[in-house]
Amino acid sequence: MPVRHYPTLHNYVEANRRTTPEYDDVALELLEGALPPDLVGTLLRNGNGHFEQHGVRYDHLFDGDGMVARFVFDGQAVRYRNRYVRTDEFVAEEQAGRMLYRSFGTNLPGGLRANFLKTKFKNTANTSLVQHGGQLLALWEGGLPHALDPATLATRGRFDYGGVLRNPFSWLDRRITPELPFSAHPKVHPTTGVLHNFGTVAGTQHRLVLYEVSPAGEARLAHALPMPEATFAHDFVLTESGHQIFFLTPVAFDVLRAFAGLTSPAASIKVNTAQPTQIIVVAPDGTVHRLHTEFGFAFHFVNGFQDADGTLVADALLLGNYPNSAAIKAYLSGHLPDDQPQARFVRFRLDLAAGTVARQSLSDCEGELPEIHPAHTGRPYRYAWTIGRPSGHPLPLLDHLLKLDVQTGEVRHAYAPDTLCSEPVVVPRRAPNGRPEPAEDDGYLAYLRYSAPDDATDLIVADAADLRLLARLRLPHHIPLGFHGMWQPGY
Ligand SMILES: [Fe+2]
Repeated sequence: MPVRHYPTLHNYVEANRRTTPEYDDVALELLEGALPPDLVGTLLRNGNGHFEQHGVRYDHLFDGDGMVARFVFDGQAVRYRNRYVRTDEFVAEEQAGRMLYRSFGTNLPGGLRANFLKTKFKNTANTSLVQHGGQLLALWEGGLPHALDPATLATRGRFDYGGVLRNPFSWLDRRITPELPFSAHPKVHPTTGVLHNFGTVAGTQHRLVLYEVSPAGEARLAHALPMPEATFAHDFVLTESGHQIFFLTPVAFDVLRAFAGLTSPAASIKVNTAQPTQIIVVAPDGTVHRLHTEFGFAFHFVNGFQDADGTLVADALLLGNYPNSAAIKAYLSGHLPDDQPQARFVRFRLDLAAGTVARQSLSDCEGELPEIHPAHTGRPYRYAWTIGRPSGHPLPLLDHLLKLDVQTGEVRHAYAPDTLCSEPVVVPRRAPNGRPEPAEDDGYLAYLRYSAPDDATDLIVADAADLRLLARLRLPHHIPLGFHGMWQPGY
């Protein structure tokens, strides 16, 4: 299958090899349209701030030091600030002026001699953010969160919830994984306000651990479920009914090879498409159900809920295979094979009583980085917004913005030539006092868009209903599009 070179992707990657400067609350220039006066609040995004550090190109898209970008909307203008997360590893590398740590997908230069038994990996703190329990946290699924000062974005330090994220298992387990990982996709229950999250912990016994954090910020380790392999799991589903759904696909780290330094953790991943995916459901009473379905890997779930008949619904962006490290390295040189596997919208219906799993395709489109109306998390919903590729579009680059009606399958898409978009964060319109709630798609999308001809990044505000561009503002310096962000009303 031919591998195609994408100039827009190539320009994007090359531009972001350079380290992005930090800015202090600069006003962004409005280039197009007008800011909606009722769009008042703060957009926070996290992502890899650069694709190269101290002369070493990262081999994997998930590497690179976390950089948090903040955009404050006051209804008339937008002010922008960005800060790298000062992890211990970031600070040490800045002081040394060279790469000191292995990371998820990149070993140190120098082959096995430089990496042998180097078991200390960089916590990049680059994947997402959550504001809960009085803390603003930068998250990375392989280790501890980092607490940030919400006013300045300065790094306060590693955050372990008063010791709850210290490994409580055996002495040897503590040697292997001293700190429990806290995934980058926590979910806040829509009525209790409890934050639920998980981590996959490598050890003498690999475990899936589940956490609960009260609205006041008191954390506890709620479950520790043994796993036969060091399974790679990135996201999960929390329903309003209190069910937590995990897909444990046979995509697992070879911990010994990775720890020994023979490969990066990402390159150690073993994939067995002949094996089924195990679906673990933790019911609100703590009962653990195990169901099985044929192989399928999901980085992200769109949403999930309990249907009126009691069935659990989990909507995934499902890949038929796991993208190997070689494909991701090719992506970082601006290339994609024509048969690049991309994720499709698939609905899983789980019948716990019967132990059965049914699948239904929601669309022929391909997508990633899904967003929904935040009040519908864990509840029935209608719309999803993603970056993606419309049905019939010939090339596998996810360079469109999609809106999918999961009830009818109807898709809208938007595209601007020679650009790439970030995850579109949904900002619902608020109901005026006493008025009925606005429609689920009545609101705005806020996202970043890299323009290759301009070698610049723009902040875009679009209409969530029809994807029409409402405002385009230029950042003072191009930045990577990042992974995940959040919207906070007010500023
Ligand atoms: Fe993610």
